[in-house]
Amino acid sequence: MSARAESIVVLTGAGISAESGIKTFRAADGLWENHPIDDVATPEGFERNPQLVYEFYNQRRQQLLSDPIKPNAAHSYLAKFEHEFPGKFLLVTQNVDNLHERAGSENLVHMHGELLKMRCLNSQLVFDIIENFNFDTNCRCCRSPGNLRPHIVWFGEMPFHMNKINQALESCDVFVAIGTSGNVYPASGFYQTAKIRRARTVELNLERTSSGFDEHIVGNASEIVPKYFENLLQAC
Ligand code: APR
Repeated sequence: MSARAESIVVLTGAGISAESGIKTFRAADGLWENHPIDDVATPEGFERNPQLVYEFYNQRRQQLLSDPIKPNAAHSYLAKFEHEFPGKFLLVTQNVDNLHERAGSENLVHMHGELLKMRCLNSQLVFDIIENFNFDTNCRCCRSPGNLRPHIVWFGEMPFHMNKINQALESCDVFVAIGTSGNVYPASGFYQTAKIRRARTVELNLERTSSGFDEHIVGNASEIVPKYFENLLQAC
């Protein structure tokens, strides 16, 4: 890293939470926690079998809230960096866990939704939730059951916060993608948007993906993220 960075956008994916005990999506078996993605991560799957989808996200939420699941050194160093970096910083995560918040990150958007939120299908209001919920749960605004869904962006749905993300990408001078396979649009195209203003694009991942980043750093997120961002801070 040579020139001083003034505005940084970081994109994270499932790989940053892997060492915290949360499985990534695209394991060799093509299943997400033993389920075909079509069954648990599409609006059609929810229509076909809502009970299965409620149960699936209830299990993911209970796993996230269980004792062994904690932020790792990569989450923690990103939060430290955000607080010490003198320029602009936006953290965009595709992850639906809350490990970035728990590590202390603040300027953070969840583009694919959050496990600890549910949404009313009538009013579109979003509520915090830590308990299990399903088709029989009374909605807090409608006061009747049958209207609640997980606040998760499924395949075919529009990700959240795209205006804010695009604005930050168009004006950043460094873009860093951490632990994402680059298989899912639009996040997979963020590095190209960042390049429009000649941002330096860097990938930190367990393996090199096929995307055209300027720099690839290969390794476990808990090791390479603190190292990379420490160097970036020193260059400020
Ligand atoms: N450190 C760094 N990278 C890692 C680690 C690790 N310890 N473990 C795994 N990885 C990398 C993998 O090599 C892979 O490239 O993390 C990436 C995880 O890729 P995916 O499982 O495809 O996850 P992600 O890119 O976040 O998926 C995007 O797809 O299913 C949807 O909405 C879901 O947000 C998700 C989106």
